[in-house]
Amino acid sequence: MTIQVDKSAGRIREMFREIAPRYDLANHVLSLNLDRYWRWRTVRAVRLRDQRPVLDVCTGTGDLALAFVPWARQVGATVIGTDFCPEMIALARRKAQRQSASRQVEFLVADTMQLPFESETFQAVSVAFGIRNVVSLEQGLAEMVRVCGPGGQVAVLEFSWPRSRIWQKVFGWYFRYVLPHLGQWIARNHHQAYHYLPASVEQFLPEEQMCRLMNQLGLKGVQALPLTGGAVTLYLGRKPP
Ligand SMILES: C[S@@+](CC[C@H](N)C(=O)[O-])C[C@H]1O[C@@H](n2cnc3c(N)ncnc32)[C@H](O)[C@@H]1O
Repeated sequence: MTIQVDKSAGRIREMFREIAPRYDLANHVLSLNLDRYWRWRTVRAVRLRDQRPVLDVCTGTGDLALAFVPWARQVGATVIGTDFCPEMIALARRKAQRQSASRQVEFLVADTMQLPFESETFQAVSVAFGIRNVVSLEQGLAEMVRVCGPGGQVAVLEFSWPRSRIWQKVFGWYFRYVLPHLGQWIARNHHQAYHYLPASVEQFLPEEQMCRLMNQLGLKGVQALPLTGGAVTLYLGRKPP
């Protein structure tokens, strides 16, 4: 089934509003719980060093923002998670309360295309499986770089296509033919969210172009770390001091 990737803000927000209540369950089932590992790898790769806050954009139900909390606490920093879907933010706030993390983490409704923060505020700015959905990748990333402080890190976790032929076949089969139906069954919605997922990943920038874009936006030492055979890639870059 070919899905037209329509990234208009209204459609994307409505799609995530609809799947929000079942989003976490779908994530853990569809990724065989690997999503937790991918976020853990992201948090480990980001070195928190001072008291400037950490920002996680397109935070959804807040899992990556919450994964930063124990590390942020060690350096006396706080974490902010933002998303333009109020239903996702409500779930993230509830999760923070359940984890007794409400004092360290704050969740706000905000569009990644226009972040409501002063430039150079955060010591690290992250996004997991979100930047692919933003209507303009360049503008979303540019905003992340803008609010990142001098010497700070920008981390982007995103799906990608594995390099090995065999893994490509296995992953491609699962991603194109199994996941959309399983996902739709778990998180019923009118927007074919789990058909949109593989289509949007196929149309996302290849690794080299993504690294080039991060470089062009002013980040240094940009690297792409393939995880789980390249099914997911963690992009890292640092803003010059
Ligand atoms: C696939 S979910 C990822 C959620 C979370 N980061 C995770 O790792 O599970 C993508 C999220 O991006 C949000 N999103 C998409 N476009 C956005 C935008 N322009 N501004 C803010 N949030 C956006 C959606 O509302 C959704 O919650």
